[in-house]
Amino acid sequence: MRPGAKPDHAAALAQYRARASIYDFELALFEPIRREAISRLALRRGDTVLDVGCGTGLSFAQLQQDIGPTGQIICIEQSPEMLQRAQRRVEQQAWRNVTLLCAPVEEAQIPVMADAALFHFTHDILRSSEAIANVVGHLKPAAHVVAAGLQWAGPWTWPVNFFVLPAALHSTTSLEGLDRPWDKLAGLVGSLDVQTRLMGAVYIASGACGKRSRRAGARERAHPQGRR
Ligand SMILES: C[S@@+](CC[C@H](N)C(=O)[O-])C[C@H]1O[C@@H](n2cnc3c(N)ncnc32)[C@H](O)[C@@H]1O
Repeated sequence: MRPGAKPDHAAALAQYRARASIYDFELALFEPIRREAISRLALRRGDTVLDVGCGTGLSFAQLQQDIGPTGQIICIEQSPEMLQRAQRRVEQQAWRNVTLLCAPVEEAQIPVMADAALFHFTHDILRSSEAIANVVGHLKPAAHVVAAGLQWAGPWTWPVNFFVLPAALHSTTSLEGLDRPWDKLAGLVGSLDVQTRLMGAVYIASGACGKRSRRAGARERAHPQGRR
């Protein structure tokens, strides 16, 4: 991998073909991050959520709890081996409200306008302006967006990067932008609240398309004209 090189589709497909069978075990350490990231989506019953780069579907159970059977999960994943495992999970749980799209996010034909989008450990996708534009173009105004993943730890915690580097090399095809992985997303969505976890090795960035969140909109509808 050349420093600063862009994500490489063919390399990513090979990477996840090799990883698919052990992927769920490898991600166990990050399950608390997943839980926090999904809770920051502030999903409501009946919502439609995009799970961008869904992998084997590790986020599905919590997303289902939040949106209920009247909601929808639209998943975009380019690795057939990862998506096959996601499909198996859907069948085992008999979920009827999950749509799996096997495509690079840049080219995916997203069939809905969604209430929220999750980018969980999807660095390659977040470094692709075309991919982010396709997702954001299929979000309703004020939709919630959350991205979480690895990042370079700051100067005061630089030893943490001895963990970040091999973990990133194992799961992405580009280290470009690892100091601010969310910055292209912020460019399209608007400002993001960025928190760090695991001594700065992981970020959770959350925000809403445009300035007002859906929750703020709902509050205003309930209490119009400053009656809060
Ligand atoms: C580290 S895994 C994360 C999977 C899942 N979000 C999770 O939290 O477990 C990254 C996933 O992004 C997928 N991916 C990478 N680049 C992609 C692209 N351009 N389009 C679609 N999927 C992509 C990979 O195939 C892989 O399944």
